[in-house]
Amino acid sequence: MNPNRRTALTTLARAAAAGAAAAGALPAVAQTAAPGEPFKIGLVLPMTGPFASTGRQIEAAARLYIAQNGDTVAGRKVQLIVKDDAGVADTTRRLSQELVVNEKVAVLAGFGLTPLALATAPIATQGKTPMVVMAAATSIITEQSPYIVRTGFTLPQVTLGIAEWAAKNKIRKVVTLVSDYGPGIDAENTFKQRFTLNGGQIAAELRVPLRNPDFAPFLQRVRDAQPDAMFAFVPSGVGSALMKQFSERGLDKAGIRLIATGDVVDDDILNDMGDVAVGVVSSHHYSAAHPSPANKRFVDAFMKANNGMRPNFMAVGGYDGMRVIYEAAKTSKGAGGEALLNAMKGQIFESPRGQVLIDAQTRDIVQDVYIRKVERVDGKLWNVEFDKMAAVKDPGKTK
Ligand code: DHB
Repeated sequence: MNPNRRTALTTLARAAAAGAAAAGALPAVAQTAAPGEPFKIGLVLPMTGPFASTGRQIEAAARLYIAQNGDTVAGRKVQLIVKDDAGVADTTRRLSQELVVNEKVAVLAGFGLTPLALATAPIATQGKTPMVVMAAATSIITEQSPYIVRTGFTLPQVTLGIAEWAAKNKIRKVVTLVSDYGPGIDAENTFKQRFTLNGGQIAAELRVPLRNPDFAPFLQRVRDAQPDAMFAFVPSGVGSALMKQFSERGLDKAGIRLIATGDVVDDDILNDMGDVAVGVVSSHHYSAAHPSPANKRFVDAFMKANNGMRPNFMAVGGYDGMRVIYEAAKTSKGAGGEALLNAMKGQIFESPRGQVLIDAQTRDIVQDVYIRKVERVDGKLWNVEFDKMAAVKDPGKTK
């Protein structure tokens, strides 16, 4: 091994052992695995805690991709190393640092929530390790490191569709209700901007705590404001609690429509929501009901491999993230670092969600966004797509 590299690795290892070392103090180290060494993918996800459904969906999708595409790439054995950060940012950063320093992973992947991705961005930069963000969806994430590539979506990207739809469908006055952190603020801003541009009025903007939310007092305020509709964003898994309280507090009976990003009517939990969800219109980049042969194959294989669990948009972010990694590894001939990163940029392919592009400039995903309505089909609830905005770039980018 090159002595400089060994020194850099030793320094990095010390920093990792110290644990608390500031990421900014880490020396850069290029990732170049010797032939015969496994191609390691560090998948850092919330596997426990309130956001465990995100981890469960993404891990299952990554394993499905490997099962379908083989466990070798560019002549190397693929080793998937799954780590549970329980949704705690300090843990995500520490685990990612250990994966780079000790395991020498070629790529970091996963990242179930925005704060977890933001905490890890400096590790990707310092370790010159590509970081594939499969879930976290605040616009600014990709700007936090030149090594970040996103295969999920952004909130501004998926919110435009429902804001346009509302303005065209006799909804004049809206209260927004979002989780009080990055993606919620992105959703709130985008909805407000696009809806008011089209003549709509925002009666109130409500922000609910991310952790242990009690929706009741907020929903009372929505009721009091008597809007035509409530626009909502909450992260994956949280939608059932919101939906339940929306109906328990009688907002639907008071004639208030619920409109949302697809995060609220997440396919992982949609079918258990019951009649209150029927008719909810949302916009998003993925529905398990997307009518394409590629999606049907994906949904069938995923459900078969996971005891009937329906894949949601998190699963698709994970599945496509693996596709981006595999194809990049083939192009880079198994090399990591800059070569692997560059081979991720500009990929165009058919995802279960439709055609997608990894924009080479922004490293963010460009994709169709669908307008969908919850319907009961053959006794089960699905987000049935009825309109789309084609090839939407994240409008939240500053450049
Ligand atoms: C984020 C998390 C989610 O579960 C989601 O549906 C959207 C965004 C996030 O933290 O970025």
